[in-house]
Amino acid sequence: MALSLISSILTTLFLISFLHLPSNAASFNSDLIKGACTSDGVTNPKTWDSNLCIQVLRSYPKISSSTNSKNLVINILEIGISNVTNTGAYIENTLKRVKTGSPLETALKACNQSYENIRLSFKSAFGEVKQDEDYETCSYDLLLARTDYLNECLQAFASEKVGDQSVSNGNQFVILFGQAADTICSLLDR
Ligand SMILES: *[C@@H]1O[C@H](CO)[C@@H](O)[C@H](O)[C@H]1NC(C)=O
Ligand SMILES: *[C@@H]1O[C@H](CO)[C@@H](O)[C@H](O)[C@H]1NC(C)=O
Repeated sequence: MALSLISSILTTLFLISFLHLPSNAASFNSDLIKGACTSDGVTNPKTWDSNLCIQVLRSYPKISSSTNSKNLVINILEIGISNVTNTGAYIENTLKRVKTGSPLETALKACNQSYENIRLSFKSAFGEVKQDEDYETCSYDLLLARTDYLNECLQAFASEKVGDQSVSNGNQFVILFGQAADTICSLLDR
């Protein structure tokens, strides 16, 4: 316990030192992405996959060319908004094809609403960082998106006893982008 506390303090100090460095160090982006993907302080430590997070964030040139922490959050959220919008569009299209009154339709309708709320939360977090540098509200919106709003979709699938692989994948990326951006907003809020 004491050791893990010390190690998390050290990690935090390490991250803070990077947040204040100029952005031209070669390893800067790579370390910044690792910081965004840390498992320290995440909402769901049991399911959080730091390596997957690093791999996904690095796969986007826009994210990996971020020049500082603020810019990194903005870029993660921009990609995240597009990802959430795509999953939402998939849900709407699927809704047109499912049987009226079926359990799958009930679940997808709940997810359609979830994804609208998640998209709006990601968008407001984006605006808070870009325009207002309000990192506390950014964190709060991203927490709400990947907990309360996402849970409505998860619970609808569970209670209707249905599943959809594309929606499950989408859910995983709501958590990935939302948590990574939140981790940086939380650091910037100190
Ligand atoms: C969301 O992002 C992940 C990771 O890059 C990607 O695999 C997935 O296809 C994206 N989903 C949508 C619906 O765009
Ligand atoms: C899905 O959500 C969008 C945005 O809230 C809404 O405009 C649309 O009517 C919903 N579609 C269905 C089939 O519920």
